[in-house]
Amino acid sequence: MYKRGNEMDTINNEKKKVMLSGIKPTGDLTLGSYLGAIKNWAERAEQFDCYYFMADLHALTTRNDPATLRRRTLEQLAQYVACGLDPQKNTLFLQSDVHEHAELGWILNCYTMFGELSRMTQFKDKSAKNAENINGGLFTYPALMAADILLYQADYVPVGEDQKQHCELTRDIAIRFNNLYGETFKVPEPYVPKVGARIMDLLDPTSKMSKSDEIGNGRVCIMDAPEDIARKFKRAVTDSDTEHCVRYDPQNKPGVANLMSIYSAVTGESFDAIEREFDGKGYGVFKPAVGDAVIEMLRPIREEAGRIIADKAYLREIYTDGAHRAQRIASRTLRKVYKKVGLVEKPF
Ligand code: TRP
Repeated sequence: MYKRGNEMDTINNEKKKVMLSGIKPTGDLTLGSYLGAIKNWAERAEQFDCYYFMADLHALTTRNDPATLRRRTLEQLAQYVACGLDPQKNTLFLQSDVHEHAELGWILNCYTMFGELSRMTQFKDKSAKNAENINGGLFTYPALMAADILLYQADYVPVGEDQKQHCELTRDIAIRFNNLYGETFKVPEPYVPKVGARIMDLLDPTSKMSKSDEIGNGRVCIMDAPEDIARKFKRAVTDSDTEHCVRYDPQNKPGVANLMSIYSAVTGESFDAIEREFDGKGYGVFKPAVGDAVIEMLRPIREEAGRIIADKAYLREIYTDGAHRAQRIASRTLRKVYKKVGLVEKPF
């Protein structure tokens, strides 16, 4: 009886697994990232203990206008909250508000090899594109990212293809440290998120709708005004055939297929149902209909984000509370690390 009771206790007290992700404050959220990913994040909080932070320290590895970086950091946080990330159910904070990130980042730099950092494809790409500013931070970026993750003993890191290598390196660093000093860090696993709709550029449907494409006519942002969204959909490319009918054929009609994917993700309708709905109606009817559906879906999100951005006190409350909660966990890990590597225990 006694033993059984104990087992039940451990089951009942079993903690949720920790999931963590950093988001660089580089620009407005797009329809692509909303439908493809963020839309599904709200429900994650039921299953996981989720941490999301604005990776403003990582943003410093490229040159930014200071006022723009500050504004974007806060706007991005507001947009995520408006998309459904509940600040009560998730820990939302700014990376720079939890100084443990920079501190553990430094220490992990000393356990990350020059050769490893030299092999990172993102470093190679970024330094090729930005030859005039190949700074040390750009090079050691993955050590800070490892610190972000390991501070929270994260079980899962949801990552896209471009961050897989950094996650792999984080695991190597954690394993190396644990081998030297005994169990200190949880070795995190990459988490492949449930795939949402894959949304392509409206003007170039063979490439993904990108967050950092500056021109923006092929890209819809969640903060775009309704008239801009309407215009972008009216100008969306369809196809050059003469059939002019709404039919799902991603090989031959990638533009139409993309618009159908968007319409389907917004309305929940199947491709068959969409084909029937627009049978005989042509693109002149279809394109504005997709635009309208997107406008109505985004309207409450844009309005909510606008309200949050305008309410500075509320926004501040969100990231203050988030930073406090995050720091409680982060400082525990950092103290453990200080002790293990031989730093004198903090006197405060
Ligand atoms: N490097 C990530 C990116 O460019 C952002 C990031 C920083 C991150 N720290 C992280 C992602 C920790 C996941 C976990 O998108």
